[in-house]
Amino acid sequence: MSKNIALITGVTGQDGSYLSEFLLSKGYEVHGIIRRSSVDYRERIAHLEGTPNFHLHYADMGDSMSLVKLVGKVQPTEIYNLAAQSHVQVSFDAPEFTADVDAVGVLRVLEAVRTNHLEKTCKIYQASTSELYGKVEEVPQNEKTPFHPYSPYAVAKLYGFWIIKEYREAYDMFCCSGILFNHESERRGETFVTRKITLAAARIAQGKQQCLYLGNLDSLRDWGYAKDYVECMWLILQHDKPEDFVIATGVQHSVREFTDLAFKYAGITLEFKGEGMNEVGVCVAVSNPDNNALIGKELVKVSEDFYRPTDVVNLWGDPAKAKKELGWNPQTTSFEELVRIMVTHDMQKVAADHVAATMRTNLAEYLEKGLVK
Ligand code: NAP
Ligand code: GDD
Repeated sequence: MSKNIALITGVTGQDGSYLSEFLLSKGYEVHGIIRRSSVDYRERIAHLEGTPNFHLHYADMGDSMSLVKLVGKVQPTEIYNLAAQSHVQVSFDAPEFTADVDAVGVLRVLEAVRTNHLEKTCKIYQASTSELYGKVEEVPQNEKTPFHPYSPYAVAKLYGFWIIKEYREAYDMFCCSGILFNHESERRGETFVTRKITLAAARIAQGKQQCLYLGNLDSLRDWGYAKDYVECMWLILQHDKPEDFVIATGVQHSVREFTDLAFKYAGITLEFKGEGMNEVGVCVAVSNPDNNALIGKELVKVSEDFYRPTDVVNLWGDPAKAKKELGWNPQTTSFEELVRIMVTHDMQKVAADHVAATMRTNLAEYLEKGLVK
């Protein structure tokens, strides 16, 4: 039997790290693309380095030659194209870079496969997004809902979606999009709203932060657990025909609800008062008596800095097709469980960071006093 060889772009990201673990557990040989940076930041996959079937290679989504050479060398049977400038707000600040990586980058991957004559043997998964629905034209959204991208990120991803479809139809390639709704985890980047909230709740509960500033609290998202979603990426490529799928939980919550629950798990009960820019989350109770001083304080405030020129405010996915055709269970991890996992992780992280910082301070002091050599 021929070996399954996966090439993952974006392997250092949230999804890339979970997908690597998933594919290794299925016996795949996994190759990942990393890019050079002045600080080697590979925290999410550090535990996999040294695993016999796990290999990392330097390449860049902006560099066709590196992709062509790597695809030729690895001869993948499956490519998971996860690499992207994935932050919507950042795409307003760096629209050209976002278009190069998130739009033309997809074309570069497709052409790398064709240049190496692998179009009949290599399947391709494209990380498409619910942001394509943008200024939504229907609620909830399914595979037939019209797209209305509403940020430079979404417009770039729209090109990615269509070029994948075009190569499927023009060259009979097995390439598909997963239209994934927001999925989060304890490995989520710290500037996405969920992780920003869970880290802040943990820091505030441990006296390390005074207040959390957020943007639009009314924004609605269909949040799932990243670990559950990578299975779907694989299932899409195991399907008998190449098709696009919506991957979502089918349950919607607001940023305010997420905040409320995260603080609750961190032992802080909030009450939201006021409206719009003047809305605040006030602490009305605490579970740890050491935090009694927080009662009555405004721990969550709204800041204009986190508003976007155009914001997507009503994402809600209908995962019926994935459920029926892929046999995937959209409710493996509930919203409540997701928030609990993230807060538990961040409570431990903040405590561990504090211990490490204290040890560093103590050591500096001992060195200064000549107590340790
Ligand atoms: P992420 O944590 O931001 O990871 C993005 C990955 O892309 C990182 O490994 C990053 O490398 C890599 N990358 C960025 N620019 C690159 C370049 N020029 N060349 C090579 N690699 C580059 O994103 P994620 O949450 O795992 O999401 C994975 C994919 O799914 C993305 O395409 C995202 O747009 C899409 N998506 C995500 C969600 C979600 O809710 N998470 C939903 C729908 C779609 P560095 O580590 O070096 O920066
Ligand atoms: N990041 C952030 N920071 N968002 C905030 C904040 C804040 O302080 N306050 C409110 N929000 C709102 C945003 O305006 C948005 O409506 C919502 O919270 C979610 O923002 P993000 O967590 O940054 O995610 P996103 O939905 O814009 O994008 C993520 O999901 C997409 C799928 O729908 C990213 O992972 C994209 O890569 C992905 O395609």
